[in-house]
Amino acid sequence: MTAEQSARTGEVVIVTGGAKGIGLSYVEALAEAGYAVVVADRSDPEPTAQALASAGASALGMRVDVSDQEATEALAERVLDRYGRIDVLVNNAGYFSSIVKKGFDELTIEEWELAYRVNVIGSWLCTKAVVPAMKRQGGGKIINTSSMTVPSGVPGFLHYVTSKSAVVGYTRALARELGEWGITVNTISPDYIPHDPDYAGRQPEMAAAIAGQRCLKRDQTTADMVGTLLHLAGHGSDFVTGQDLWVNGGRLFH
Ligand SMILES: NC(=O)c1ccc[n+]([C@@H]2O[C@H](COP(=O)([O-])OP(=O)(O)OC[C@H]3O[C@@H](n4cnc5c(N)ncnc54)[C@H](O)[C@@H]3O)[C@@H](O)[C@H]2O)c1
Repeated sequence: MTAEQSARTGEVVIVTGGAKGIGLSYVEALAEAGYAVVVADRSDPEPTAQALASAGASALGMRVDVSDQEATEALAERVLDRYGRIDVLVNNAGYFSSIVKKGFDELTIEEWELAYRVNVIGSWLCTKAVVPAMKRQGGGKIINTSSMTVPSGVPGFLHYVTSKSAVVGYTRALARELGEWGITVNTISPDYIPHDPDYAGRQPEMAAAIAGQRCLKRDQTTADMVGTLLHLAGHGSDFVTGQDLWVNGGRLFH
């Protein structure tokens, strides 16, 4: 099956956190592959949605905080009003680049709660909102986002690493619950991608140190994530569920 065959034109995908970074590369690639793309972001998604539409795609921008249940329900309703179906949900939005690393005993309860509210509960809320439509349609694809900080155990942001560990277990248990409906649930784990100048500037030596540990000795880019995302969103992966796909240039293996 070619990449073109695996994406069905007219299928509808929601990408949370689609206005920036990895999510922006996802929405651009999905639009190019023929999906109708919903850019759901807490930041203004309109510039991204308009750029996709100007390039000829069917695109919808919605401002959504994924940790707000009413907002995630409104997201699903609006998408169903506009398109009548939801085929793929990409839970990409994350509490990540605004994190300032600190010791385990310096973290606040508020920081812990934010990591869980966005990275774990946010994924669950979006899932809860779209699954009824996927069940009616007889299938769907849910793609969650973890991180290579989980197998490497990076110090300095314990709340983040713990929340991303939770995403892996969440994916496996949810895959078991939704399999009978033909809905697959998988995780993608990116390695460090130094695309955000503020975050990268706070740890200037990290990208080179990580690149040196890879089989493929270079910085990872957001474009490096796209092939795996298209595979999991498309029908070539219909028998893949409960998995955690590592995209890391061969830094760690499992
Ligand atoms: N960049 C990396 O090195 C890296 C590595 C591993 C995993 N990840 C994960 O990949 C995902 C994307 O990473 P990124 O680097 O593109 O992040 P980013 O911080 O650059 O962008 C995240 C996007 O999500 C949006 N967002 C944040 N909180 C939100 C919320 N509550 N509701 C809706 N939208 C929200 C932001 O507005 C932003 O557009 C995240 O889940 C992150 O944890 C990133």
